[in-house]
Amino acid sequence: MAEYNRVSECVGLITLRNPPVNALSVSQGIVHTMQRALSDPNVKSVVICGQNGIFCGGADIKEFGSNMTGPTLIQMIHAIESANKPVVAAIEGSALGGGLELALGCHYRIAHSKSRLGLPEVSLGLLPAAGGSQRLPRLIGVPAALNLITTGRHVTAAEALQLGIVDQVTDHNTVDAAVKFALSVAGRSLDPRRISTHPCPQQPDLDALFEEVMQKVRQSARGAIAPIACVQAVRAAATLPYAQGIERERELMATLFTSGQARALQYCFFAERAVGRWRMPSGARWDTSKPRPVQKAAVIGLGTMGRGITVALAQTGLSVIAVETQEKQLMEAKQAISGMLERGAKRRGVAPALDRVIYSQNIQAVADVDLVIEAVFEDIALKTKVFQQLSAACKPGTLLCTNTSALDVDQLASETPNPELVVGMHFFAPAHVMKLLEVVYGPRSSPQAVATAMQLGKKMGKASVAVGNCRGFVGNRMLKPYIEEAFFLLEEGATPELVDQALEEFGFPMGVFRMSDLSGLDVGWRVRKGDGLVEPGTASGRSARIRQGRRYSPLGDLLCEEGRFGQKTGRGWYQYDKPGSRVARSDPWLHSFLGAYRAQHGLVARRIDHQEVLERCLYALINEGFHILDDGIAAGPEDIDVIYVSGYGWPRHCGGPMFYANMVGLAKVLERLEHYQQLHPEVPHLQPSSLLRRLVASGSPPIHKWEEAIKKLHSQL
Ligand code: NAI
Repeated sequence: MAEYNRVSECVGLITLRNPPVNALSVSQGIVHTMQRALSDPNVKSVVICGQNGIFCGGADIKEFGSNMTGPTLIQMIHAIESANKPVVAAIEGSALGGGLELALGCHYRIAHSKSRLGLPEVSLGLLPAAGGSQRLPRLIGVPAALNLITTGRHVTAAEALQLGIVDQVTDHNTVDAAVKFALSVAGRSLDPRRISTHPCPQQPDLDALFEEVMQKVRQSARGAIAPIACVQAVRAAATLPYAQGIERERELMATLFTSGQARALQYCFFAERAVGRWRMPSGARWDTSKPRPVQKAAVIGLGTMGRGITVALAQTGLSVIAVETQEKQLMEAKQAISGMLERGAKRRGVAPALDRVIYSQNIQAVADVDLVIEAVFEDIALKTKVFQQLSAACKPGTLLCTNTSALDVDQLASETPNPELVVGMHFFAPAHVMKLLEVVYGPRSSPQAVATAMQLGKKMGKASVAVGNCRGFVGNRMLKPYIEEAFFLLEEGATPELVDQALEEFGFPMGVFRMSDLSGLDVGWRVRKGDGLVEPGTASGRSARIRQGRRYSPLGDLLCEEGRFGQKTGRGWYQYDKPGSRVARSDPWLHSFLGAYRAQHGLVARRIDHQEVLERCLYALINEGFHILDDGIAAGPEDIDVIYVSGYGWPRHCGGPMFYANMVGLAKVLERLEHYQQLHPEVPHLQPSSLLRRLVASGSPPIHKWEEAIKKLHSQL
């Protein structure tokens, strides 16, 4: 795991060897090799580096569940810091987490200009617990350390030099530079270089600083505990001697380590990787399906979505033909896309990719592209026509993708001569910002088409999840019962404020009603009209609220009839200062409207608490997730969870809806659904899914065993 050599006669060179990122395994032989270097009288100084151009990616996450690696790492780093010969870290590639903590134990740090450094433990629900929370503030000061540790952000070598994390940056061979440096400092006093032996740099008004940071962190953490523990650990560094600080770091880490949040965040880390290994019910899989190269793409329809998709493609380095039939729209789109590209380029410090986009009003311009993404109005007749035009205009083999959010991808595919080339690429608004992409395959989509869309999604930096075709795919299908429950709660006595507060305290950035105001109430209204659900609002009583054989709440329709479409009209479930304004304020009109509505329908308002809001909204959503797994629309619970965490604001520290159900306990979810179903028999989405029942009956296997259990249950049918 660690190799030892003597170089330049008197420098001991320790090379970490643990592919792929030289993670610090508990069995690491660094202490042993260090002892060898220190006991060799010919060695005057030591350099630590990593093989294959990577210093060290940190502790091995896979070992987190089995053993607390903290104490072992602490001892190892302590041994390095107390060495009586200078130890220099030669940082290439990355020094992350335990890797940076190891480097902080060294007396000097030399970094390659392309390397990146950081303490990302917070993103896994932990803190840098191998002395990192105690050494970094001592080295670079409290404010900078707080920023790095509570956000987990990575810094470039240049920023690391500016902050004082590294002593030198080189463009040349880092190990050679470190060996040269090690020779130059041999014999110098090491006391000033032992970070743990010094106090943090003086900081005026420490209490006020910590109070301010804690407030900010609490706000942005949305219920996550690790960022708060990180602040507490840095506070210990600033106020306590090192030995006591380390003890506090250990205590805080122990709490985090055993918390469900760390487990949830680590699950998300692995789930995001697992969804890349997609598989379809046909047996087609990621590792046996070769994607086609995509250099040139086209986007059809430059409205809200088409503009963002064009930007995302151009920023990925593709040439894009952007087609829009309306001249005025085309002009506006051109301006908007150029603006987005310019702002994006400025942020990333690169040249804007303006000349990668060619605009056209003519669909024939797509003749030589490798892939098309259609984003015209949500109208099946129009989309069918566009797909037929595309089939005729494109070169053979061009992949045809639709960004539809609700239409039937199979129907569209069946209207084209080559249905195997058709898949859904369901982006989320704004498409160049939002992380999620649902890649929707039908029974006739070729594995190559799915592989190509998945690879393109990955290149665009999206969390791409392959899902089967059904109404709403995975994300929106699960959202429907969640929103409906929220409407029913209003009928029964809740207010938008109460429902939103419960959901926001749970960790969603916005509750269902604030979200609905933001995206526009008219969107759902149009869909419900299309489904034949909307009726004039004059009818009253229970029968007026049963439509198509199930409970229906017309509340959203009634608001739309009043012209209340949300933020865009300045009124919705809340009121806003003016149309387009974002600050939601409670609206007395809405409250009296709800009162009048209940009276009209003979409903008596009752007290509803946060627990009921969470159980009804979240368990209804989770229940739909079980239906989706049972139907094979999502291959596994990770797919659903990644969709919800990256596209729907589900708090990452709760792991996604299916992980959350697993954590709460499947039997409990089932029992609560049964309870609510008895109270509301006219609500089918509260009827527990048969998969949930069967999983509970088979002993509620842990989430990583669900897929296997589902296969077994299906084979028994
Ligand atoms: P939009 O109404 O903003 O834009 C549609 C654009 O397509 C318009 O500029 C229109 O002039 C253009 N267009 C119409 N027929 C055309 C043709 N034959 N050739 C070229 N351009 C044509 O619509 P939006 O919101 O961008 O939605 C587009 C699609 O994306 C829809 O299918 C929608 O369901 C889906 N979607 C929308 C999301 C959203 O949040 N707005 C989210 C995810 C998917």
